[in-house]
This record gives sequence, structure tokens and C-alpha cells, in this order.
Amino acid sequence: MPHNLFSIFSQPLKPPLFEPGEPRFWDDPYISKSMLEAHLNQTHDGASRKNAEIEKTVCHLVTSGFLKTGDRVLDLGCGPGLYSSRLCFEGMKVTGIDLSRRSIDYARAQAERDGHDIDYICADFFNIDYEGIFDAVLQVYGEICTFSDEKRDMLLSLVRRALKDDGIFIFDVSTRELRMREGLKNRWYFSEGGFWRPGRHFVLEEGFDYPENDTWLNQYIIVDEDGTVKVYRLWLHDYSLEIISRILEKNGFKVEQAWNSLSGELYSKGGDWIAIAARKAQ
Ligand SMILES: C[S@@+](CC[C@H](N)C(=O)[O-])C[C@H]1O[C@@H](n2cnc3c(N)ncnc32)[C@H](O)[C@@H]1O
Repeated sequence: MPHNLFSIFSQPLKPPLFEPGEPRFWDDPYISKSMLEAHLNQTHDGASRKNAEIEKTVCHLVTSGFLKTGDRVLDLGCGPGLYSSRLCFEGMKVTGIDLSRRSIDYARAQAERDGHDIDYICADFFNIDYEGIFDAVLQVYGEICTFSDEKRDMLLSLVRRALKDDGIFIFDVSTRELRMREGLKNRWYFSEGGFWRPGRHFVLEEGFDYPENDTWLNQYIIVDEDGTVKVYRLWLHDYSLEIISRILEKNGFKVEQAWNSLSGELYSKGGDWIAIAARKAQ
């Protein structure tokens, strides 16, 4: 339902847990352009980690033996293919899936330029239908944190099905510690054009905490010059190692290794991130 300022003010201030915002965010024609710029930007980690960290991550996953030359790897939410292209360079056969047409177009163009044979697919990863063909599934930058428990379990079941019998799922989740350090954002501003819109618009940024669910909402209300109001929501469910291990076990995985980062920082409690390699259990 389209919003106007009246409908926004008549809603409760704090949205119910995991209530969706605008359906088009990652694949919005304008926002996806800003997002691609953010993925490639080397001055911040807003959408993807910087190249040096990606390089370290791939080296770590290869030297630790979790990813090997010849492996078939599925990169879920591959964005512009920053990891997929590195994995292909290491001799893996990679399939990258992302919702953003703009990111997939960029990834395909890079692969063509570099002579990389990578299967990039523009699709919703909730629609994948692979059975027992991948040695590894990769999902980087806390993507699993953005889903409700129900959707997360649905994704875990699709990942499990896509993996070979001894396949490995490699991913990372944010922790409550990161959230506490970043703090709730509450601010508003007028813009002459920026991340959300090319022209003049108003942005109201709000943060909501749901501590009983270890969940956090970053909400962005955008008002265009013609009065159109759109509400974008980024939900973030944080995890501890104990909780994510239990969830993985319930969904047919066993944690084989945990770190504080996918680049191999040794695990200790209290870090901002938890990176996990979880083996498909029989
Ligand atoms: C935070 S970015 C991370 C991108 C990439 N993994 C990286 O670290 O460079 C999340 C990515 O997931 C994609 N995405 C989000 N939901 C998706 C879905 N349901 N199906 C496919 N891709 C999705 C977005 O388009 C975006 O490229």
C-alpha cells in the first residue's frame, strides 16, 4: 500500500518484528546503482568489505582447506562478484546468484573482461532448486541476519539441499556487540540527490532495538518532492556462537570451525562478527 505522511503518522512508532518495508530495495533501478558504487568503494565497508579483506578471506579459506581448486561453489548474494571472481581465479567452478540486475551485469562484464567462466544468475536465492551438486556454499557479509527465523530456516534447508553429502556452508553473522558499538541511528536530513534518490528528497533514519529477540531495525523513510513516502527496512538479527550453532544443528549442519572473521581471526567471545564453516550432517 502506498504511504503518505498521514498513514506514516497513524502507524505505531515501532514496527512489529520483521514487518517488511518496500519490496524493492536491492533491485530498485536507482538504489541498485548507488549500491553498486558502495560495493566497489574502497573508503568504507558499507555494502562489501574492502578488496584487501576479500583477498585475505579467499586466501584463508583456501589455505585452511575449506575451499579447494576444482570445487563447485555457490555464492549466494554474490553482489558484483567480488568473491566469485577470486574463487574462479583459484580454479573453482563458481555459480553466483544475486537479486540485483545491476550487480549481476557488472559481475558478468568483469568475468568476460578477465576470461572467467562464472555462472552468474540474476534471481532470488529463495528460489534455488539445486540438489547435491555443490562442494561449498558461501554467503558473505551477514546476509542470513536479515531474515526472520522462519525465512532463515527456509534458506538453510535450500543450502543443505544444494550441497553434496560432505559439503560445507561458509558464512558470517553479526553479534550484539557490533550492534551496541554502532548504536541506534536517529536523524533526518534533506538531500539534493544521493544514495536513495537522484533528486531532492527528505530522509528520516530511525533505529529500533528488539533486545528480547537480539534483533535490530534500521528504518529509512524517504519523502519525495511530490509527497510520495516510501519506508525501507533493514532487519538485523544478531547471533552468539551458541545460538547459531544450535540453529545449524537443528537444520542439519554441524559447526566445524568458527572464527571472528572469514579472513581467519581466531574466535573469542565478544567480537563484532562470527564466521562459520558448517558441515552438512548426515
Ligand atoms: C550486503 S550485500 C553482500 C554482497 C557480497 N556477498 C559481498 O560481500 O560483496 C548482500 C547482497 O545480497 C543480495 N541479496 C539480498 N537478498 C537477496 C535474495 N533474496 N536473493 C538474491 N540476492 C539477494 C543483494 O542484492 C546484495 O548484493
